[in-house]
Amino acid sequence: MLLGRTTLSKFLIEQLRGTEDQADLAALLVDVTAAVKTIASMTAKGALGGYLGSLDSENVQGETQKKLDVLSNDAVIQSCEWGGLVAGMASEELDEPYRLPRAFERGAYLLVFDPLDGSSNIDVNVSVGTIFSVLRFGRVGEPTTADFLRPGAEQVAAGYAIYGPSTMMVLTVGKGTHGFTLDREIGNFILTHPDLKIPEDTSEFAINASNERFWEPPVQRYVAECKAGRTGDRGRDFNMRWIASMVADVHRILMRGGVFMYPKDTKEPAKPGRLRLLYEANPIAFVIEQAGGVASTGRARILALQPEALHQRVPVMLGARNEIERLERYHRAYDSGTDKPFASPLFRDRSLYSAEGRA
Ligand code: F6P
Ligand code: MN
Repeated sequence: MLLGRTTLSKFLIEQLRGTEDQADLAALLVDVTAAVKTIASMTAKGALGGYLGSLDSENVQGETQKKLDVLSNDAVIQSCEWGGLVAGMASEELDEPYRLPRAFERGAYLLVFDPLDGSSNIDVNVSVGTIFSVLRFGRVGEPTTADFLRPGAEQVAAGYAIYGPSTMMVLTVGKGTHGFTLDREIGNFILTHPDLKIPEDTSEFAINASNERFWEPPVQRYVAECKAGRTGDRGRDFNMRWIASMVADVHRILMRGGVFMYPKDTKEPAKPGRLRLLYEANPIAFVIEQAGGVASTGRARILALQPEALHQRVPVMLGARNEIERLERYHRAYDSGTDKPFASPLFRDRSLYSAEGRA
C-alpha cells in the first residue's frame, strides 16, 4: 500500500521531462507544496495553535486580515523566495509585488498567489485553501507590476490546495488536472485523483443567493430557471450549494460536477465582481479548462482577459460546459435585446426578477 505510489514531485518531473520548464518548474511547485504543508498544519491546529482571530491590519482591498492570512502569506514567501526559481511574487495580501531580498538569486518565474482563500471560514473550522499561479518572467531585472499583468492563458502552472478533512493539492502544468492527497505520516502528496474531468452537464449550482437582487438579468434568469426545477423551462430539479470558500466550491465541482458563479453585481457598483483575476479567477480557470470545463465572465473567456491591475476583480462563472455556455447565451441575448424570456413580464425591467424591480 505504501510502496509504488506516485508522489507529487515524481509526477511533476515526469510530466515536465523534455519541456523547457523541466528542471525549475517542478522544483518551484515542490517549494509551493512545502508552504502548503505548513499552512495545512496551522489550519489543522486551529485554536490550539493560537492561530485563530483577526489582526488590526487591513489588506489593500480593505478587508480585515486574519492571523492566518498573514502567516500563510509568510509561509509561501519563505518557501519560495530563496531557491533561485522565482524573480518576484504577487500576493492578494500585499499591496505591491514582493521584492526578493538582494541575497537571493533571481529565477525564471513569477509566482502569484492567494495564500488563504475563504478566510471568513477560518474561525469557524470550515474548509479554506491556497491558490497559486506561475508565469514566465522572460527578462532580466526586477519585476514590476506590469510584468504580472499577463493573460491567464500564459500561465505555465496553476492550482490550489484545499485544507479540508484531508489536505489535497490540485494542479495543472497544461497537461490535464490532477489531484494529490497529503499523507500526513509520511509528509508527501500522493497522486490520488489523476486526470480529473468535469461532466458537461449538471443539476447542481453554487452562488451566493443573498445577492440575487443585485445580479444582472441573465444571471437572475439562469438561477430562476434552475430554481423552477421540473415545473420550469429546464424540466428538471436543481440542487444548490455554497461554502463561501471558492477553493472548496470549485473542488466539489472537480469531484462531482456543477457550476460556480460569482457574477458582477450592483451591491458595490465600483467593483466588477468579487473575485480577483490574478489570484483567483486565472489559476482556477486554468485548472477548470484542463479538466474539460469552461471558465467565463459570462461575456468572455477568463484566460483571454488582459489584466489591467494587480488586484483587479472579475465576474466568474465556471464548471460544466453546457451550463456555462447556456449562461453565455443568456448574456449575449440580454446584451443584444433579443432574449425572448426577457420580453415576458417576469423579466421586464421592473419585474420580479430584474435588479430594478427588486431594488
Ligand atoms: O476570496 C473571496 C472569497 O472568500 C471566495 O473564496 C468565496 O467564494 C467568496 O469570497 C465568498 O463570498 P461571500 O462572502 O459573498 O459568500
Ligand atoms: Mn480568496
